Amino acid sequence: MKKVTVGILFGGNSAEYKVSLKSAYSIITNLDPAKYELILIGITKDGVWKRYDGPFEAIPQDTWSDSDCTPVAILPDPGLHGILMKSEGMFTRTHLDVVFPVLHGKNGEDGTIQSLLQLADIPCVGCGVLSSAMCMDKDISHRIVKDAGIRVPETVVLTGSVSKEQLDELITGFRYPVFVKPANGGSSFGVNKVVDSSGLLEAVIEAQNYDSKVCIEEAIDGCEVGCAILGNVDDLTVGEVDQIVLSHGFFRIHQESQPEKESENSTIRVPAEIPQEVQAQIKQTARDIFRALGCAGLARVDMFLTLDHEVVFNEVNTMPGFTNYSRYPRMMKAAGISIAQIADRAIQLALLNCRTAGRAE
Ligand SMILES: Nc1ncnc2c1ncn2[C@@H]1O[C@H](COP(=O)(O)OP(=O)(O)O)[C@@H](O)[C@H]1O
Ligand SMILES: [Mg+2]
Repeated sequence: MKKVTVGILFGGNSAEYKVSLKSAYSIITNLDPAKYELILIGITKDGVWKRYDGPFEAIPQDTWSDSDCTPVAILPDPGLHGILMKSEGMFTRTHLDVVFPVLHGKNGEDGTIQSLLQLADIPCVGCGVLSSAMCMDKDISHRIVKDAGIRVPETVVLTGSVSKEQLDELITGFRYPVFVKPANGGSSFGVNKVVDSSGLLEAVIEAQNYDSKVCIEEAIDGCEVGCAILGNVDDLTVGEVDQIVLSHGFFRIHQESQPEKESENSTIRVPAEIPQEVQAQIKQTARDIFRALGCAGLARVDMFLTLDHEVVFNEVNTMPGFTNYSRYPRMMKAAGISIAQIADRAIQLALLNCRTAGRAE
């Protein structure tokens, strides 16, 4: 059987560069070498693309870019369908059957990479251009999900500079605490819980360091729950629901020094300790959100569960973390699905999407 050539993109010009290195390591080491030929393409924090041929372990250690690298570029020409490398003064082209962009956050999960691959006519694992872009933007995704009849937190959106007085006026009617966050972000970078008006402007300025669009949201009382989804519109597999139990503050596990060992303020329960009928409602809401936002392949849908069991949308991560402490693989594992099976199915779905769309393979 001919092997499928998979380009794995990792790293990226994003605040979540390091999380991506760990996620990519999990995916790479779980793909069956008898079935898949891997072409590893690292993107440095500065956005430089390099083909990497060294040991896998150097990826999570972030030493991969020191050696064993060749400059590489995706060719936008659909007839060429692959990458171009420069080595010893010579250009060589390598065909890719599919690309798995194991990239989180901006410039990876937001439709940009997906657009490049669409131009090149290379099937891409996960959500497409529009869906990735919508899910990345917390303002836009909330509008779409609200339109589908699902509750979202009350939000004020800021797009320019603002004074303290204007801010106070804008959020009249909100109760503190509120959450201030970049509309396009991830891993809790630039997110702050603000307990009174004295901290609001500072939190907005911090969020503006990550995105010019900032959301101020009512805080939802209750717990956070998530659903891992794998599949396409009419055939979705949903993992066990998880639940984040916080002792204080908010969820920011990726910013901790040793998240593999423990978290300073959060415990993740998989499966959630929530009545079965409520879990069924959470899963159904997650499926509805996945479909409303046009997701494909895989995504993690994050929601809040209020004290009276109302499900409120938070966000969709179209390329969720795959580290050994990440929620998506843990929810799937609890449902009996391994990372190897997730990665295999996600790749097959990308190839199938492409065939269904009538494009060249
Ligand atoms: N409206 C809200 N109500 C309660 N907690 C929130 C709210 N918004 C964010 N949080 C807390 O902040 C964390 C990070 O915010 P989130 O919107 O998920 O951003 P990111 O994309 O960076 O993960 C959430 O996991 C949750 O703990
Ligand atoms: Mg989040």
